[in-house]
Amino acid sequence: MAKMTVRDLDVKGKKVIVRVDFNVPIKEGKIKDDNRIVQALPTINYLVEHGAKVILMSHLGKVDHKDPEKKAADMAKNNMAPVAARLAELVNTNVSFVDQTQGELLEVAVAKLKEGDIVLMQNTRYEKGESKNDAELAKYWASLADLFVTDAFGSVHRAHSSTVGVAEYLPSALGFLVEKEVEMLTAAVYNPKRPFVAILGGAKVSDKIAVIENLLKIADKVLIGGGMAYTFVKAQGKEIGKSLVEEDRIDLAKEFLAVAGNKLVLPVDHLVADAFAETANTMVVDDDHIPADYMGLDIGPKTIELFKNELQGAQTVIWNGPMGVFEMKPFATGTLEVCKAISELPGAMTVIGGGDSAAAAIQLGFKDKFSHISTGGGASLEFMEGKELPGIAIIQEK
Ligand code: 3PG
Repeated sequence: MAKMTVRDLDVKGKKVIVRVDFNVPIKEGKIKDDNRIVQALPTINYLVEHGAKVILMSHLGKVDHKDPEKKAADMAKNNMAPVAARLAELVNTNVSFVDQTQGELLEVAVAKLKEGDIVLMQNTRYEKGESKNDAELAKYWASLADLFVTDAFGSVHRAHSSTVGVAEYLPSALGFLVEKEVEMLTAAVYNPKRPFVAILGGAKVSDKIAVIENLLKIADKVLIGGGMAYTFVKAQGKEIGKSLVEEDRIDLAKEFLAVAGNKLVLPVDHLVADAFAETANTMVVDDDHIPADYMGLDIGPKTIELFKNELQGAQTVIWNGPMGVFEMKPFATGTLEVCKAISELPGAMTVIGGGDSAAAAIQLGFKDKFSHISTGGGASLEFMEGKELPGIAIIQEK
């Protein structure tokens, strides 16, 4: 059965509490990337245009509730005020910001809402109970509204009061962003046109074990780059110098290699450096020639060609994780070239599974060149692992 969506709700004149994921990068009070706010606008605008009274809630960063000093610093750092200011610039209606997650100020602001108005409450993680899915907290947030909509795809893998708890007490539905994410990721992962190629990168094998396992079952090829490739290279019995390695995952990497055969494609050369720095001395070496005092920080040119060849003719591509330390210019080529190659595939469905690779694609100027760039990091990974996402599972069926 299909889940209810915001289209199925009669929202006119109703108070609708919406969980969004406005967990955006903020530096010195300035938002560095507002993509997650922009992606939530279709749902917000729909509710506004259909006469709902909109109550928005989101987490921002993390708040340490154990250490009072850290808690104060985290709260100061992760204040939602800059997000409210940006949202107000992006919508055509009144946005009020309430520096509270519970209490009179919030209740009065909600009571004053007119049809089409928006109130954004303070960071849900200011509440200790939020991450524990505290039922009293969830009931309180539910008591502010008539309906609940989840549009926080980036947070649907979290069973928290604002993502799951509140849905226990109100009629609930998916917003357009969650609906789109699920549609696109389902089409890519569970109904792919073949050949289906998955490209996985990033620092750690341990973060991606379940994804590798699941994609090895489903995809036609799984290409591995980034820091995690070195655990595989070492598992092949090759020297990797000072490259990143997870010694405790080498046996697992060996198992993957044994099971996958030529489905798993590893780098054949590397851009190595004598320090983890933009100014390091670098050279390109073949796979079995990484010097003892060098570390691999990007895939090499032969690997780029190999990966491009593997991508030829692909009809579905999922990419998760950069190929090198793309944040440093000398080590961005592999990620850039792979990103470019995927974006140029004719007629293919191309999906970026969030997190660092989404940031890389956006930073490198490929924002509009993919079929879908997920707003979820952990959430899209868990989706690709084949796990149930509690923030979606809890939403009512039609
Ligand atoms: C994310 O950035 O992946 C989401 O907003 C979830 O954040 P979290 O990992 O702090 O729960």
